[in-house]
Amino acid sequence: SFQAVLFDLDGVITDTAEYHFLAWQALAQELGIHIDRQFNEQLKGVSREDSLKRILAHGHKTVSDIEFMQLAERKNANYVTMIQKVTPNDVYLGILDLLKDLRANGKKIALASASKNGPFLLQQMQLTDYFDAIADPAKVAASKPAPDIFQAAAQGVGVDVHECIGIEDAAAGVAAIKAAGALPIGVGKAEDLGNDIALVSQTNQLTFDYLNDVWQQSRG
Ligand code: BG6
Ligand code: MG
Repeated sequence: SFQAVLFDLDGVITDTAEYHFLAWQALAQELGIHIDRQFNEQLKGVSREDSLKRILAHGHKTVSDIEFMQLAERKNANYVTMIQKVTPNDVYLGILDLLKDLRANGKKIALASASKNGPFLLQQMQLTDYFDAIADPAKVAASKPAPDIFQAAAQGVGVDVHECIGIEDAAAGVAAIKAAGALPIGVGKAEDLGNDIALVSQTNQLTFDYLNDVWQQSRG
C-alpha cells in the first residue's frame, strides 16, 4: 500500500485558494486588469511570481523589475492580512479525520504547497503536529507543474515518491504529482483537473478507506 500522503494546502486543506483569488483580483483591478474565476484556474498552485507574470500577460502589461517586486509584495501583504483570521474551524470537512487515520495507520504526512505562507497557515489551523515534513517552496528549483515540490515532500518523509499519494485542487499541481510519479487524487471537477485521475468533489470524501481503494485500483 502507499506509504505517505503529500498534501497541497490552498484549496485542499482549507479555503485559502479563495483568498489568493481575492488578493490577486484586487491587485489586478488596481492595474486595470480584469481576472475572473475561470482565468483563476490557471493561477491555482502556481507560485507568487509566476501568477503575477500570468496576470500581467493577460492584461498585456509590462512593468519594471522593481515594480514587479512591489506588486508581488503588495498582493502578499493583502493576502497575509486576510489569513490572520483562519482558525481550526476553517479546516475543510474530513481533513482532520484523514490526518488522524493516516497517523494511526503509520502513514507519513507531508506538505507540498507552493505557498511560503504554508507553515503559518498550518499553525493557524493547529495542524502542524500532524505533518512529518513541510517541503520548502523557496528551496526547489522549479515550481508546479514541475515535480520538484512533490519530490522534496517525499524526500522529507524518507519515502520513495512512487509510494506516495498526492492530493491537489489545481491543474498545475496534478501535473506536478504525475511528473513526480506519485498517485494523484484531485479535489474538484474533471473539466479543470482531467478525467484520467481519481476525483472527489468534497474533501469529506477523502477518507482513509477511499485512499486505499484508489491505491488498490491503480497500483494494487
Ligand atoms: C499555492 C497557491 O499554494 O501557493 C497559489 O495555490 C499561490 O495561488 C502559491 O500563488 C504561492 O503562495 P504564496 O503564499 O507564497 O504567495
Ligand atoms: Mg491548491
